Amino acid sequence: MQLTTSRLMIREPVAEDFPAVFEIFGSADVRRFEGPPQTEAEVYAALVRAIQCGQSEPRTAFRPVITYREDGRVCGTISLRLNNSEINEWEIGWMLRQADWGKGIAAEAARAVLEFAFTQLEAHRVVAFCHAGNRQSVRVMEKIGMQYEGRLRQVRWINGAWHDEFVYAIVADLW
Ligand SMILES: CC(C)(COP(=O)(O)OP(=O)(O)OC[C@H]1O[C@@H](n2cnc3c(N)ncnc32)[C@H](O)[C@@H]1OP(=O)(O)O)[C@@H](O)C(=O)NCCC(=O)NCCS
Repeated sequence: MQLTTSRLMIREPVAEDFPAVFEIFGSADVRRFEGPPQTEAEVYAALVRAIQCGQSEPRTAFRPVITYREDGRVCGTISLRLNNSEINEWEIGWMLRQADWGKGIAAEAARAVLEFAFTQLEAHRVVAFCHAGNRQSVRVMEKIGMQYEGRLRQVRWINGAWHDEFVYAIVADLW
């Protein structure tokens, strides 16, 4: 996968992306709604899996990095994985470096990935799950046209407590 938007290039990850990816997933602030910050070993293993998923055929997962076109700097990651093959439903998710929050980067990248899902993968539905308290992520979903479908109660165990999740989705007809 390689996608270009006005400010961004979304491309397959490479081993050299490790420092930038660790800055994202090793951050307690970035991981606040997901769980504890990840260790170097955890991030490295996930990066290796993200690189390897590019070699599987048929492709059931994409775990690209988001970079700035102007200087190639990695500002985030975005994922798209097959969630339900029977109905061709894919799940999208995003994580940005904290210094790059608030610039509309996630929505810009997510729009490009949704277009890829509906045009290249012929997705029927794309879903996203987020912590019910994650206002920024809810706004991103709203801005890209995803609609609220429901609340999953007490499905995330973080810092010794249960938390709810929202489910948002967009179907091909509405893209
Ligand atoms: C969620 C995340 C990807 C959003 O990316 P982003 O590029 O900063 O998103 P945007 O710049 O489009 O901002 C999203 C919206 O949140 C709003 N926002 C920012 N901080 C907010 C806050 N504390 N409370 C409520 N809304 C907030 C912004 O105003 C913006 O809305 P607007 O465009 O209507 O003004 C980014 O914050 C992030 O990486 N967070 C940590 C990881 C994470 O939670 N990932 C999602 C897992 S589901």
